[in-house]
Amino acid sequence: MKNNLQLLPIVLIIGAFMLMFSFCEGTGTPSVSFANDIMPIFSTKCITCHQGEGAFGNLDLTNYATMTSGNSNSGENLIVPGFAEQSLLYKSVDEDETSIPRMPQGGPYLNASQIQLFEDWINEGAKDN
Ligand code: HEC
Repeated sequence: MKNNLQLLPIVLIIGAFMLMFSFCEGTGTPSVSFANDIMPIFSTKCITCHQGEGAFGNLDLTNYATMTSGNSNSGENLIVPGFAEQSLLYKSVDEDETSIPRMPQGGPYLNASQIQLFEDWINEGAKDN
């Protein structure tokens, strides 16, 4: 019995750490940021053709609000939060997708890690983060 009591503080400390870690993981903090990861790709690769009035496909990628305005030709299918595979935005850059023209039109296309960012960001809820 005496031995067990001496172990008690250690057990409590280990338990506290385990609880802390489980909380850290449980918050589900998105790994991809719209502002830091996605917007820079739009700026360098997309907005030459997707900006303001007259944007191709009526898709204005100037910022989150214009992008999600619902004005683009594909409407709500542009982004289906949580489902990259159903989102035209992701399909447009995915090399395996043949149902729509690949973007940026005429290339050079996005690299694998940039495409991955699009996929992860949409699957994490496509938030304005
Ligand atoms: C050189 C010009 C050009 C660039 C650069 C470009 N696009 Fe496009 N994009 C087009 C054109 C043209 C269309 C319209 C195709 C159509 O409607 O037939 C289009 C349409 C789209 C659509 C479909 C919109 C809708 O709702 O129907 C998406 C999504 C898209 N582009 C995403 C992107 C993304 C993301 C980038 C950057 C990675 C990009 N585009 C870069 C020319 C471009």
